[in-house]
Amino acid sequence: MTAAELTFDEQAALTAGVDLWHTAGVDRIGLAGIGVTDGPSGARGAEFMGSASTSLPCGTALASTWNRELIGRVGRLLGDEARARGACVLLAPTVNLHRHPLGGRNFECYSEDPYLTAEIAVAYIDGVQSRGVGCAVKHFACNDQETDRMEIDVVVDERTRRELYLLPFEAAVRRAGVWAVMAAYNRVDGRYCSEHPGLLTDLLRSEWGFDGVVMSDWFGTHSAAALGAGLDLEMPGPPMALGHHLAAAVEVGDVTADDVEQAAGRVRALIERTAPSRVRDGTSEPPDEVARAAATEAIVLLANDGVLPLDASAAAQIAVIGWRAERPEFQGGGSAQVNPPYVISPVQGIADRVGEDRVTFRTGRVAPRPAPISGAVRLDFFAAGDLSGTPLHRDTVRETTAVWIGEPAPGVPSTFSARMATSLTPDVSGSWTISVSGVGAARLYFDGELVGDTTGASSGAGILGLFTTPVEAEVALVAGSTHQVTAELDAAAADGPIAIAGLTIEVRPPIRPDAVEHAVRAAADAEVAVVVVGRDDPETEGLDAASMDLPPDQVELIGLAAAANPRTIVVVNAAAPVTMDWVDDVAAVVQLSYLGQETGTALAAVLFGDADASGRLTTTYPLRIEDAPAHPHFPGRDGTVEYAEGVFVGYRHYDTNGIE
Ligand code: BGC
Repeated sequence: MTAAELTFDEQAALTAGVDLWHTAGVDRIGLAGIGVTDGPSGARGAEFMGSASTSLPCGTALASTWNRELIGRVGRLLGDEARARGACVLLAPTVNLHRHPLGGRNFECYSEDPYLTAEIAVAYIDGVQSRGVGCAVKHFACNDQETDRMEIDVVVDERTRRELYLLPFEAAVRRAGVWAVMAAYNRVDGRYCSEHPGLLTDLLRSEWGFDGVVMSDWFGTHSAAALGAGLDLEMPGPPMALGHHLAAAVEVGDVTADDVEQAAGRVRALIERTAPSRVRDGTSEPPDEVARAAATEAIVLLANDGVLPLDASAAAQIAVIGWRAERPEFQGGGSAQVNPPYVISPVQGIADRVGEDRVTFRTGRVAPRPAPISGAVRLDFFAAGDLSGTPLHRDTVRETTAVWIGEPAPGVPSTFSARMATSLTPDVSGSWTISVSGVGAARLYFDGELVGDTTGASSGAGILGLFTTPVEAEVALVAGSTHQVTAELDAAAADGPIAIAGLTIEVRPPIRPDAVEHAVRAAADAEVAVVVVGRDDPETEGLDAASMDLPPDQVELIGLAAAANPRTIVVVNAAAPVTMDWVDDVAAVVQLSYLGQETGTALAAVLFGDADASGRLTTTYPLRIEDAPAHPHFPGRDGTVEYAEGVFVGYRHYDTNGIE
């Protein structure tokens, strides 16, 4: 039976999602809709906080392996994990380029170089699709910044466009035979990418021969005419422009019945392609092994005066310094986030390798940053507004932070209310700060007493800037005492088109005036000091970075440790470039990036020489942000960004102009 045998309404229904993560099917002919899931570094499934998914290195780190075979293994694992979570399409890989070091989503993308990006993408897609799960390569095209990402108009000349920004997509289509393409939010030539006939029809289909499905980025469909321009599938649903809206659009002549039939036929073909019976031979390897191999090969040794590798058998004491050594950034923010089964921190990885007794850990913080409370956290879900009686669902998580998209659990409506409960046992006496923020209205109780309410607080924090700014309270605590901490959320109070809810409780210990002093003493007393540094906030979707500089306290810590111990190794826990004015003052520099759940194990393997530090950078680190080729034209003005540097992106610019 062909799509032509479907009724018009059935065809129209196929062109749109039914909810956040599922496409429509046609019951009459037994055609079930399919699930889709983010994303590049882990297959999350339909829930942000649901069952754990393997957390793999971010895109930049994966590409740093320069290893197609390894990327293929990663792809096969992701394909299997996606299917195990009910998804037949993985919303990945992200093949936009590192046009500028401050691009918020660079961590997700592979490189400044289109050739490397294409090679990694082809291996990744081949791996995923070999498991019968389609890839939706994204974001087509020129989605290289987060500032004004829904509207920005990219002006880029034809040669630059083809040689750089389109090349990875072309490889994904022509070489990897990718099954789906996600249209970007932004505009090119003044037109939204999701309704750009030049990109979607002339180039993608006619010139490159793409036979798969073009889907919109989430809430990125603006008109029914998009279908005529080459878009097949509006995501998510319920639809705002395609789907059941198409009958009226055909009537007024915005699209033709023929366009609808063709788009529906392609969506149907995608559904049929993902049938379990089509899975090719072979299975993926154990997740932790793949995650560890990828993380280890991703690490880049940027400088080494001979201090590395360290001798694991010697009895020497190792000072591990910096709060990121204990709370590493293991993934970037936004839709690429997954809920990992575990994360091995740098300090844990080192202690596991040489024994706890050889490690002295000091945070070295000048002013501690707020962090969620770790431990057993109970979540109870109720129907809207009603936090009494038996919960509709109960969950246990590891930290006091949660995000839900749509229904948080089967049988719990997206307009739910929730209670998050845990306990806090302070390790230091003094004035602690405790805060609550939410997507929705949140209240915070400390030992049963109301201490915070987000009503009236402005939003703009946390994931995608949807959380309210944290509402804080000060509590005087005694070390070793135990306190009940509870927060309540009314998800129905979240506004906006997306059914997203979230709740975060954070605590900030009192400032220890002697923390830096302790760290420096530990560095001086040890044989070697490993200083792990990073940004305050992770690199994230939705926001470009404000600066390439590390926070001043991190730079200060490097300087003090290096002065105290000439054998100081700096480990940079950032995915995008950071300024390294201190590079000549230290014995070694290790680029850790965001490595997923095996962060600490991989780091230890490289530090102790169990594994070769075989990773290589995929992007050029300028000495100063002003040296970056896109610097004068980033992030654009008045709704337009000109790629005026043309083809001279990254090393092409630095090499041509003799810039270090
Ligand atoms: C992102 C996509 C992602 C989608 C679904 C969008 O905001 O740009 O990369 O796949 O959300 O989470």
